[in-house]
Amino acid sequence: MSLENRVQKALVLESPKTPFVLKTVPIPKPGPGEVLVKIIASGLNPVDWFIQSRDLFAPNTPYPAIIGLDMAGDVEEVGESVKEISKGDRVFLEPKLNSNEYASHQQYALAPVEFLGKIPENLSYGQAACVPLTFSTAVYGLLPAHPVGMGLNPTFDDTVSYPKEIALVIGGSTSVGQYAIQILKYLGFGTIIVYASTKHTEYLKSLGATHFIDRNEISFADLPVALPKVCSQPVKIIYTAVTSPEAQNAAYACLADDGKLAIATPRIVPWGDAEVTTKKVYGVFGGPHIPPNREFGVTLWKHLPRLLERGVFVPNRIEEIPKGLSGIVDGVKKYEKGEVNGVKLIVYPQDTPA
Ligand SMILES: NC(=O)c1ccc[n+]([C@@H]2O[C@H](COP(=O)([O-])OP(=O)(O)OC[C@H]3O[C@@H](n4cnc5c(N)ncnc54)[C@H](OP(=O)(O)O)[C@@H]3O)[C@@H](O)[C@H]2O)c1
Repeated sequence: MSLENRVQKALVLESPKTPFVLKTVPIPKPGPGEVLVKIIASGLNPVDWFIQSRDLFAPNTPYPAIIGLDMAGDVEEVGESVKEISKGDRVFLEPKLNSNEYASHQQYALAPVEFLGKIPENLSYGQAACVPLTFSTAVYGLLPAHPVGMGLNPTFDDTVSYPKEIALVIGGSTSVGQYAIQILKYLGFGTIIVYASTKHTEYLKSLGATHFIDRNEISFADLPVALPKVCSQPVKIIYTAVTSPEAQNAAYACLADDGKLAIATPRIVPWGDAEVTTKKVYGVFGGPHIPPNREFGVTLWKHLPRLLERGVFVPNRIEEIPKGLSGIVDGVKKYEKGEVNGVKLIVYPQDTPA
């Protein structure tokens, strides 16, 4: 696709709940503090399916809409006042929600430099594209200070450690859950219990999980009874990457009275005893762009590249979907059928057939 003509291919939703269509759209120009990224890899997320099938956009978002929340690529143009990033840099980032010119399911997009990182040399574009949104969703629940998150390490201080503490991750094999396990390991948690299918046990152990509860044997309703058999002490830190009401209720019931629970959705089940409980619950919005998330977002993007480079955090395993942007239609069907299993789906927008 030629930049001279300033047109590109993008996957577009013309109106709510319609199929994706491949269209030619203008390539935007970066404003002050922004860069234009040639998108080499774009990550898929369950929310792509929710948006397409259920119109799960914020109110008043104008259609036609371009979506996509994980981006890796090359800086093509640099806007005014940008000093730290140059043309040709390999970068990765989480795009702004609900903003066509910034979305990742197209060939070029704008990106504000305050929430963007240079891709470490040890990561491919595909690996880099599977980090931003789901890492962010895990980390916002755990590290930033209250009321955004549990406040376990708001400054990425490498000396912070909780060796005697116990944590539970529900949905450990999800992309978000895999990062939650790694973040708890980074925080030095001595015991990291994971609720997931046993087929993932070895892989999740390699990420830091220490104990397992098989989700195919123990239902959410039985989880609060099963947990004390794995660990006799109260569990004070729980992250749930499964957000159904059943999962949220199980997580809340498993939590120690003075514990903290993060849920990978801002839509939290309203527990009746919220006024009197000492349990703290955090409904996570995994994005740096909007207040009150912005302050921690700057810290996150300062530290994330170096921690990936050092191998403290490893990207999810990826499943590459062929046919460039057109492949997103197949990828979204996989979410619909529940066929995404322990991997992150990635497309390469520049490979979109003519
Ligand atoms: N709040 C935010 O800003 C935000 C951002 C991103 C994602 N999310 C949400 O976070 C959740 C996870 O997203 P994701 O992209 O990480 O998901 P994903 O990787 O697509 O999740 C797939 C995995 O879910 C597991 N799973 C399904 N049902 C389960 C259950 N009942 N118990 C335990 N594991 C179960 C499956 O495990 P098995 O292999 O065991 O079947 C499968 O490996 C989604 O609900 C997503 O919408 C929220």
